[in-house]
Amino acid sequence: MFELKTREAANASDPAGKPAFYAGVAADLRALLEGERDRTANAANLASLIYHTLPDLNWAGFYLMKDGELVLGPFQGKPACVRIAVGKGVCGTAAARRESVLVPDVDAFPGHIACDSASRSELVVPLIENGTLLGVLDLDSPSLSRFDEADREGVETLAAIYLDSIR
Ligand code: SME
Repeated sequence: MFELKTREAANASDPAGKPAFYAGVAADLRALLEGERDRTANAANLASLIYHTLPDLNWAGFYLMKDGELVLGPFQGKPACVRIAVGKGVCGTAAARRESVLVPDVDAFPGHIACDSASRSELVVPLIENGTLLGVLDLDSPSLSRFDEADREGVETLAAIYLDSIR
């Protein structure tokens, strides 16, 4: 049975410690997904791992492309909006640009979709498999400027491990 490790919160929030922190989370994720290719199960476990390992989050989960729009997938946190059009909100912007979007202050992002009023900052990473957009991985924090470039790189690595697992 996979044991969720308690990781050093100091490392997770200290910019200098973040690469080592994410390397540990990446190793945990590989162990967690080992031998399983089911995309829903692996997405659910990744959402849980992120939510319970990264400090200072109020929501972590997936929006998956279905019939041309983003539809809520596995997540941890409060109930959320179900459908987001590509190009709308932070999630739809990351999907349209096919690149990660880091928002230090959601109130300053035009068109931000407020699912949980606690969210103050957000990081959205697109999931692209062989040129096809599968969806996005969305992390929300109740703190302003919670995410930096080290978080973007770390979460992009986690997303890549997920994509590898479902091949
Ligand atoms: N804030 C997102 C919507 C999804 S929730 O944060 C879970 C957005 O603007 O796309």
